Amino acid sequence: MPKVVVTRRVPAEAIELLKQSCDVQLWDSDDPIPRGTLLEWVAGCDGLYCLLTEKINDELLDAAGPQLKVVSTMSVGYDHVDVEACTKRGVAIGFTPDVLTKTTAELAVALLMATARRIPESVDAVKDGEWKTWKPMWLTGQDLHDSTVGIVGLGRIGAAVAKMLSGFDCKLIYSDPYPNKELADSLGIEYVSFEELLERSDFVSTHTPLFPETHHLFNTDAFRRMKKSAIFINTSRGPIVNHDDLYDALVNGEILAAGLDVTEPEPLPSDHKLLSLKNCVVLPHIASASVATRRKMAIMAAENVLGGLNSTPMPNRVKA
Ligand code: DGY
Repeated sequence: MPKVVVTRRVPAEAIELLKQSCDVQLWDSDDPIPRGTLLEWVAGCDGLYCLLTEKINDELLDAAGPQLKVVSTMSVGYDHVDVEACTKRGVAIGFTPDVLTKTTAELAVALLMATARRIPESVDAVKDGEWKTWKPMWLTGQDLHDSTVGIVGLGRIGAAVAKMLSGFDCKLIYSDPYPNKELADSLGIEYVSFEELLERSDFVSTHTPLFPETHHLFNTDAFRRMKKSAIFINTSRGPIVNHDDLYDALVNGEILAAGLDVTEPEPLPSDHKLLSLKNCVVLPHIASASVATRRKMAIMAAENVLGGLNSTPMPNRVKA
C-alpha cells in the first residue's frame, strides 16, 4: 500500500477514506507537527496530506524523495507550497476550492459588519460595566447601506461576498488584474482600477491570493489613498498587508477601522500592537471554520491524495 503522511488530526472521515487503500502515518494532534519530525516522516512517502501551516519547499521534497507523487493541502490557498519545485519533480498538488467559498464569504461579511458596527467593542463595554444608560452617540458605527464597497479580487470568494452584499443596498465596485465583465455584469458590480477603488470605497474587502505582486499590497501608500472613514477587511492572507503601516494608518486616523481574519505572523502574538487598538478587530483565521465546510475540505483533500496516487484525475489539482 502507498504510504501517506497526514500532518494533523483532521476529521476522521478523511482518515478512514485514506486508510482504505493507503498506509497512513498520522500526526494525531491539534498542534503542528515539528518540522524535524515531518522531514523524517516524509522520507519514502508516496503522498503528503498537509495544512497551510506546513511549508512545502525543496527541503521537504528532498527529504521525501523521488517516489512522492502528490501533496494535498486542506486549504484553498496554496502559497505555502512551492508550485514550481513540485512541478519540476512531477509532484501533483491538490487543494480545496469551492467547498469553502460561501462559508468564507459569510465570515468576511460578518467581520465587515462587526467592525463597522463595533460589535466586539460593544460586547466588551457591556462586560466591563460601561453600559450605564442609553446615550445618543455612544458606540456609533458606520452604515453598510448606501455605502460603496470595494472588492479587491473578484475570484470565487470575492464574487460570493459581492453576491451576499447585493442585498444590503450598497454600491459595489471591484478591482482585479483580470476583469471579468460577464461575472461583474451578473453581480451588478463595476470594474475600477485598484487606485480608484481605494479612493471611492467606504469598505475595502480584499480577496486576492498571496503572490509576489500582492505581498504588502496594502501599505502606507494604499491606506493614504483610502477615505479617512474607510474600513478595511482582510480575509485572504496576512502578508498582503504591511501590519506596521496598517497600525500607523489606524492610529493616525488615515482609515477608520480594520477587521482581519488573517495576519502576519500567524498566530499574531497576544501582545501585538494591533491588538491594543479598539478600531481593529482580529480573528484567528477562522473564515472557513464551519463544521460542515471543514469536513468537506478534509474529505476533498483525501480524495486529492487518492487521485494523485492512482494517477487518476484529482478532484482539484493546482494547474502548474
Ligand atoms: C484556505 O483554505 O486557504 C483558508 O485560508 C483556510 O480555510
